[in-house]
Amino acid sequence: MNIFISLAVVSGRQYLNYAVKAGNTMSEYTMKAMAYSSYGGVEKLKRMDLPLPKVGPGSVRIKVKAAGVNPVDWKVMAGYLDPIMDIAFPAIPGWDVAGIVDAVGFDTPEFKIGDEVHAYGRRDSVGVGSFAEYMTLPAHVVAHKPHQLSFEEAAALPLTGGTALRALDSLELAPGQTLLIHNGAGGVGQAAIQIAKAAGVRVLATASVKNHELLNSLGAEPLVYGDGLVEAVRARVPGGVDAVADFHGEALEPTLAVLKESGSHASIADGTVGAHGGRYIWVRPDGKELQRLDALVEQGKLGVHVVSTYPMQQAAAAFTQSMSGHAGGKIVLTEFTD
Ligand SMILES: NC(=O)c1ccc[n+]([C@@H]2O[C@H](COP(=O)([O-])OP(=O)(O)OC[C@H]3O[C@@H](n4cnc5c(N)ncnc54)[C@H](OP(=O)(O)O)[C@@H]3O)[C@@H](O)[C@H]2O)c1
Repeated sequence: MNIFISLAVVSGRQYLNYAVKAGNTMSEYTMKAMAYSSYGGVEKLKRMDLPLPKVGPGSVRIKVKAAGVNPVDWKVMAGYLDPIMDIAFPAIPGWDVAGIVDAVGFDTPEFKIGDEVHAYGRRDSVGVGSFAEYMTLPAHVVAHKPHQLSFEEAAALPLTGGTALRALDSLELAPGQTLLIHNGAGGVGQAAIQIAKAAGVRVLATASVKNHELLNSLGAEPLVYGDGLVEAVRARVPGGVDAVADFHGEALEPTLAVLKESGSHASIADGTVGAHGGRYIWVRPDGKELQRLDALVEQGKLGVHVVSTYPMQQAAAAFTQSMSGHAGGKIVLTEFTD
C-alpha cells in the first residue's frame, strides 16, 4: 500500500508531495558505498550502507554504472585539501560519475528518468561522492552521455577532460602554434593532446619511453621528462614554444627555459606559477564545458583510454594503482550492486 505524505502549503509557501511505500524496510532507503570515517590511507576505505541521497529541485539522482578514479580522490582522503574544503564523515570519495537517471527533482526539464548521463560532480564540501550505488547532482553539472562512450569511458572523461579544456582555454593557442605538455601520458595530458590537436596546435609532450607510442598515436611528439628535456625541446623548436601546460608539477625551470618571451603557461599542479607569469588552473564542475568535450567525442576527435577497471569493493586497489603515479590512463570503478 502506498502512503502519500503531502505538504501542501499555499500562498507562496512550499509544496511537497512525497510517496512512501508502507512496510518498506530501512535497506530500501540506504545504498551501498565505499566511504571513510576519518582521514588516512587506503586502509580507511570501508564498504558501508549509507542513506540514499534525496533529490531536490533542479537535481537528478544517478544510478551509478561507473565512477572515475582521480589522484585528487586519495589526496582528499589523506586530508591534503582540509584547509580549503569542509568534509562530512563518513565521506564517499569520487567526483567523476556515469550512470542512468533514476529520479529527477521538481522542475528539472533537462533530464528524465532513464537518461544516460555523466558528470564531474565536485561540490563545495566533501562527503557525497560517486563510489556508491547512487549520486545526486545539480542538473547544471550533468550532461547526456555520448553513445560513442561506454559508461566506463564516460566516467573517466569529465574531471580530466574539463581540466585539460580549462588549461588550454587559458593558453589561448592559435592553429599552427606549438604547445609543450609536461605529463602527456596521464588522464589530463591525454585529453589535452587530443583537444589541442583538434584545434590545429602542434603538441610536444613528455612521458617515459614506454608511453611514447601512446603519445604518438594521440598525435603528440613524445619527449622524455627530466635531464635533457630543455635541449630536446630547443632542438625541435629553436625559437621557443608558444605555450606550456604543466600537468605534473615541479616543471617551472624547464617551462621558463623553453617558452617564447611572448608565450603563456599554466599549471594544474604547481601553485607557484602565478608568481612567474603563469596561471594556476583548478577544474570546475560545469555541464556546458562537458558538452564541449562530448561534441569532440561525437566528432571522433576525443577518446578516453581506460587502463584498469575494479569492482567498487576494490576501491583501495584502484587508489593504490593511482598512487603509483604511472597508471598511463584512466582507472574506473564498476559493479556497484552486490
Ligand atoms: N588543478 C586541477 O584542477 C587538477 C585536475 C586534475 C588533476 N590534477 C593533478 O594533476 C596531476 C595529473 O593528474 P592526472 O589525472 O593526469 O594524473 P595521472 O593520470 O595519475 O598521471 C599519471 C602519469 O604521470 C606521468 N608522470 C609521472 N612522473 C612524471 C614526470 N616527472 N613528468 C611527466 N610525467 C610524469 C606518468 O607517465 P609515465 O608512466 O610515462 O612516467 C603517468 O602516466 C595530479 O597531481 C593531479 O592531482 C589537478
